Amino acid sequence: MAGSDADAAVDVLVVGGGIIGLASAWRARRRGLSVTVLDPDPGRGANQVAAGMLAPVTELQYGEEPLLRLGLESNARYAEFAAELAEASGGMDLGYRRCGTLAVALDADDRAELREVHAFQRRLGLDAEWLTGRECRRLEPMLAPGVRGGLLARDDHQVDGRRLGAALTAACERSGVVIDRARAAELTYADGTDGTDGADGADAGGERQVVGARTGDGRLLRAGQTVLAAGSRSGELYDGLPVRPVKGQVLRLRMDGPFAGFLGRNVRAVVRGVHIYLVPRENGELVIGATTEERGWDTTVTAGGVYELLRDAHELVPGITELPLAETGAGLRPGSPDNAPMIGPTGVPGLVAATGHGRNGVLLTAVTGELVAELLATGRVPELAAPFSPTRFRRPESAEVRAS
Ligand code: GLY
Repeated sequence: MAGSDADAAVDVLVVGGGIIGLASAWRARRRGLSVTVLDPDPGRGANQVAAGMLAPVTELQYGEEPLLRLGLESNARYAEFAAELAEASGGMDLGYRRCGTLAVALDADDRAELREVHAFQRRLGLDAEWLTGRECRRLEPMLAPGVRGGLLARDDHQVDGRRLGAALTAACERSGVVIDRARAAELTYADGTDGTDGADGADAGGERQVVGARTGDGRLLRAGQTVLAAGSRSGELYDGLPVRPVKGQVLRLRMDGPFAGFLGRNVRAVVRGVHIYLVPRENGELVIGATTEERGWDTTVTAGGVYELLRDAHELVPGITELPLAETGAGLRPGSPDNAPMIGPTGVPGLVAATGHGRNGVLLTAVTGELVAELLATGRVPELAAPFSPTRFRRPESAEVRAS
């Protein structure tokens, strides 16, 4: 039986088969490592609700330049990643669309703020063009007549997060990754404990080592290296990682028949201080997202959430009220204290992290898979991953404890 206590260790156990875990597993397998992914429902994490914007330029926030660099790198790799993945999955279509993104301002204050953002983007050498309101509406005729201006990021694209998850699952299975469809109950340490009693994984007896994970049905899966990629659950499995769930509610409308081509590219704005975006897919789906809520593990779709999304989207594109509402949903982003992911060694021997991707999981999937696989195969932290060390949140006193 796969994964019984009698099983030999695999090279790599990936705990969590969301898109980050699967991409890491697939890439590691391609480097010749034996890999098992542990997840009851692989490919169906937060990506199931994600709009799938690949938007490093228009998601840019002040003070997040390292994250921007990682996002740009992942975006630059996406076309090749999507092509390789389509082939490795046996020809699945990922809905990767090089459509660009238009970020618009709805009033004079928004316009002034967006102008500042544009200046910041230009200082960083990013490709973003300022457009007047009329130019915005020429590109997207369904925009509200009051749109005051906007910026066009030609390289902010989109991919279908659901198709991405399905393709990564197929690519893993076809390339020889074992997918164990069980829930991870806990990480397992060489001393037989579950690791939830210390922020740095060390105990009074010295350094502990992660040797795999125990499944919900009581089996021990042993591995030379364990990758914690359990999305918003990651902090639950190892409390040295400050990952928390950040709820996002999302709507799916249909642009069929007379509404085909309703929008041609991703459209976004900040309405009443809240980000709203509309992502039109080639298959006729229009995704509207997303709320950002700190509500623990709650994934209820609320009347208030739906109302706010529709209200704000309607201000931006009034015609949306004509479209059929096909689906509502809510998911949990794996949030991190500085909005940047945790990629690399955790400081606990045998335990690597690939989590905390927050709003950028879909975008960062391409680069994260490669960085994790490189680390696993070579033992060296790739330069690009260095700013995202999972140990960056440690308090100095825990370093003293370790040193003593
Ligand atoms: N990537 C956008 C969001 O998480 O809402």
